[in-house]
Amino acid sequence: MSYISAPPLLLLLLLLWIGLAAVFAHYNVVMVIFDDLRPALGAYGDSRARTPHLDEFAQGSSIFMRAYSQQALCAPSRNSLLTGRRPDTLHLYDFYSYWRSFVGNFTTLPQYFKEQGYYTYSCGKVFHPGLSSNNTDDFPLSWSAPTFHPRTEQYMNSPVCPDHSGGVLRKNYLICPVHLQTQPYKTLPDIESVAEALRFLDSRKKNRQPYFLAVGFHKPHINFRFPRQFLDRFPLTHFYNYTADAVKPPGMPDVAWNPYTDVRSRDDFKHRNISFPYGPISGHQAAQIRQAYYASVAYVDDLFGKLMAHLDLERTVVAVLGDHGWSLGEHAEWAKYSNFEVALRVPLIIRSPEFRLEQPRQMHSITELLDVFPTLVDLAHLPPIPTCNRSNSELQQLTCSEGKSLYPQLQGTDLGEEHVALSQYPRPGMLPTKHPNSDKPKLRNIKIMGYSLRTNLYRYTLWVRFHANNFSQDWHNIYGEELYDHRLDSGEEFNLSALPEFNIIRQHLRRQLIEAVG
Ligand SMILES: *[C@@H]1O[C@H](CO)[C@@H](O)[C@H](O)[C@H]1NC(C)=O
Ligand SMILES: *[C@@H]1O[C@H](CO)[C@@H](O)[C@H](O)[C@H]1NC(C)=O
Ligand SMILES: *[C@@H]1O[C@H](CO)[C@@H](O)[C@H](O)[C@H]1NC(C)=O
Ligand SMILES: *[C@@H]1O[C@H](CO)[C@@H](O)[C@H](O)[C@H]1NC(C)=O
Repeated sequence: MSYISAPPLLLLLLLLWIGLAAVFAHYNVVMVIFDDLRPALGAYGDSRARTPHLDEFAQGSSIFMRAYSQQALCAPSRNSLLTGRRPDTLHLYDFYSYWRSFVGNFTTLPQYFKEQGYYTYSCGKVFHPGLSSNNTDDFPLSWSAPTFHPRTEQYMNSPVCPDHSGGVLRKNYLICPVHLQTQPYKTLPDIESVAEALRFLDSRKKNRQPYFLAVGFHKPHINFRFPRQFLDRFPLTHFYNYTADAVKPPGMPDVAWNPYTDVRSRDDFKHRNISFPYGPISGHQAAQIRQAYYASVAYVDDLFGKLMAHLDLERTVVAVLGDHGWSLGEHAEWAKYSNFEVALRVPLIIRSPEFRLEQPRQMHSITELLDVFPTLVDLAHLPPIPTCNRSNSELQQLTCSEGKSLYPQLQGTDLGEEHVALSQYPRPGMLPTKHPNSDKPKLRNIKIMGYSLRTNLYRYTLWVRFHANNFSQDWHNIYGEELYDHRLDSGEEFNLSALPEFNIIRQHLRRQLIEAVG
């Protein structure tokens, strides 16, 4: 006769309960967004970076090596990430429309968590402030409390850099290392945001309601205003031997070029006679910009360390990402505003207590920022959000995602499907212009859309006529075509689209791109 005696049965039940509790416990979720951060991190193999805190965080995390933004501009990228919809679905390519009133009342990532019982809170720049989030960062639908904005945010574009003569604060420089004591309120926006995030975390300690906290850093977005000491970690000479082009690559179509107008307009660049639109910026200035970018990254890494020290990583899912990349002289270009790998590729690092990793785990499949919404939902074990149904108008489905969950990959049960990333960038015309500003055209001025497909081996970009009045594109009206083979040319220097040898693959990618745009 077989029987289970009472103590082992109790033990079994206890183990089962612990197991279920672990599976169904609602983890807290922290999402950290860095503004304009390309993967200039030690964890991504960048030897110039000094990012000990992000690197340490990456130690127990999954590092997505090939993650891409949907558009290399803050508001479209963030609204896409936060609603799980492409810029083409939101009809947002600039800063000036709010999806709920313009397109559809779509559920956002934080809103979904809020509706599932989470307390949701945002510190700093998460939604792009202004019209694209209804001037409220989509409060109250997305957040349980009004968004925290640092009071020093108002000085972001103010002349508060010390000039070269007497340390008087009156310049709006691109490169602006400062002593905190000289700054308004003796602090900087990201320092304030992290202090508020820490205050928030303390306030939740005794509360059983799970939370979703989003922290948005303003740096390394220009201008490069950061505490001076971070500059000292980066000898300027380390940035002279940085491999990048001196001039625009010959095969690059003009429509692909972004003339980095925001860099030119700063007080330390506007008198330097940088020829419009193709430059170049001198070697010395180029090294200074790179140095300041890396110093800005080191500054926010330091603040990120303070945030991490306050988190209970046994109970918290953490996602760290950049909203899009930034060109540091590749193709002789600066800033974002393009469809190149350097403008679109971002860091994406995800950690969950569910997966205890002894070492960093590099993930090499192609991912999109669109994937973050369904992934975080799955990592929190909330009801999965459906994929938007393309045949039945996406606009009627209020809660869905155009991305895919990365949960199977994190779990190791992905079937190894080959993924692609789709991005886009608008232009007002064939040639770079100041008026309208071809780096960031307003919707009414958009005449051309560049769609860019990143596959395992290639980047294929097609610039076509776009009708802003009805958001349609004319695939037969082509303004530029680019094909880069990443096996030979990871820098995207050699546009192969005109070579007959690549005709077959080019046509194949064009069909795949048109199909992906839908
Ligand atoms: C949008 O959806 C939210 C809930 O998801 C609802 O509370 C709100 O009333 C809706 N707004 C409109 C204009 O339909
Ligand atoms: C957007 O802002 C307007 C004006 O402040 C307000 O009336 C409206 O309710 C807001 N929309 C949503 C969905 O919050
Ligand atoms: C180039 O820069 C790296 C920093 O990444 C530095 O270690 C190296 O010494 C530099 N090489 C030269 C020749 O300056
Ligand atoms: C300004 O730039 C133009 C074009 O690059 C060049 O021909 C001219 O000599 C420059 N002038 C000065 C003062 O540097």
